[in-house]
Amino acid sequence: MYDIPQRPRRNRQSAAIRDLIRETHLTPGHLIMPLFVLDGQGRREEISAMPGVFRLSEDEVLKEVRACMHVGVRSFVLFPAVEEELKTPDGSYGAHPSNFYLRIARSIKATFPEVMLMSDVALDPYSSDGHDGLVVNGEIVNDATLPLLAAQAVAQAKAGFDFIGPSDMMDARVGVIREALDEANFTQTGIIAYSAKYASAFYGPFRDALESAPKSGDKKTYQMDPANRHEALREAELDADEGADFLMVKPALCYLDVIRDLAVHMDRPIAAYNVSGEYSMLKAAAAKGWIDYDRAMPEMLTSIHRAGASVILTYFAREFAERYQAGNLPR
Ligand code: PBG
Repeated sequence: MYDIPQRPRRNRQSAAIRDLIRETHLTPGHLIMPLFVLDGQGRREEISAMPGVFRLSEDEVLKEVRACMHVGVRSFVLFPAVEEELKTPDGSYGAHPSNFYLRIARSIKATFPEVMLMSDVALDPYSSDGHDGLVVNGEIVNDATLPLLAAQAVAQAKAGFDFIGPSDMMDARVGVIREALDEANFTQTGIIAYSAKYASAFYGPFRDALESAPKSGDKKTYQMDPANRHEALREAELDADEGADFLMVKPALCYLDVIRDLAVHMDRPIAAYNVSGEYSMLKAAAAKGWIDYDRAMPEMLTSIHRAGASVILTYFAREFAERYQAGNLPR
């Protein structure tokens, strides 16, 4: 006989005991489903690097929202796939009154007023340069970009978005957007700030989905260096001071330490974006039979929640919620 006073395995010996002491409970209510939208009707184009994810026209997006709501996902973030000929250096189509992205938002809110709808604010989907800010002589200029972002944000608030999602990483944009919203009387429209957004290779499939990759250079002068952790707190503090309602870390899985830091140090809800590359990697491995998708997918999402993100933006949202509702999640 060994004298072993501490036996942690006692607490794991049955499913009933494991249920009692489980610390992290992820539900569909924590998830935001990203949807790619395009102009027209009857269009449903699968994104080749993201099996199971589609670019959807207005009619198709309404069907997708309905299906998600049916399994308890009530929050959505929309991204526009814009025709190349509508793109300009200043991305002005982003705030244009006839913009299909704004029309689709109005239509979703008219059909399903109870959903939480989040926008994306940045120039890249509308920019002929494919950068999040204005490009002048090869430089991504900060201050001249700010009014363009504010115009997008106000147009989105008018269209009925509940939360504005600045993903551009320009300095001071949260404050400028907050002021513009307040001036236009959208005091109840919130801001989910992409606070610690890293210059990541894991956005690759997303840029294919929107054909929004930079035409030259990279995003390293505005998105963060993946090697840095302290800087994330500085970005989060600035965004909180400027009026952000939620603070986001992006991507999620390679940045769980950063999620944890923000959850411990900041007094705002923390969101994490489980990005396109993270989705594609798992789908690809599952398609090859190299990994058990049904177990790995909820494990990934649970780990992001455990790290401290109360809110998760994820392309897995609908599949997770379907399994959750059917009682089919592994435990
Ligand atoms: C750009 C934006 C990106 C994503 C969301 N908004 C890509 C980028 O910064 O190039 C990526 C999302 C994903 O990969 O799932 N404004």
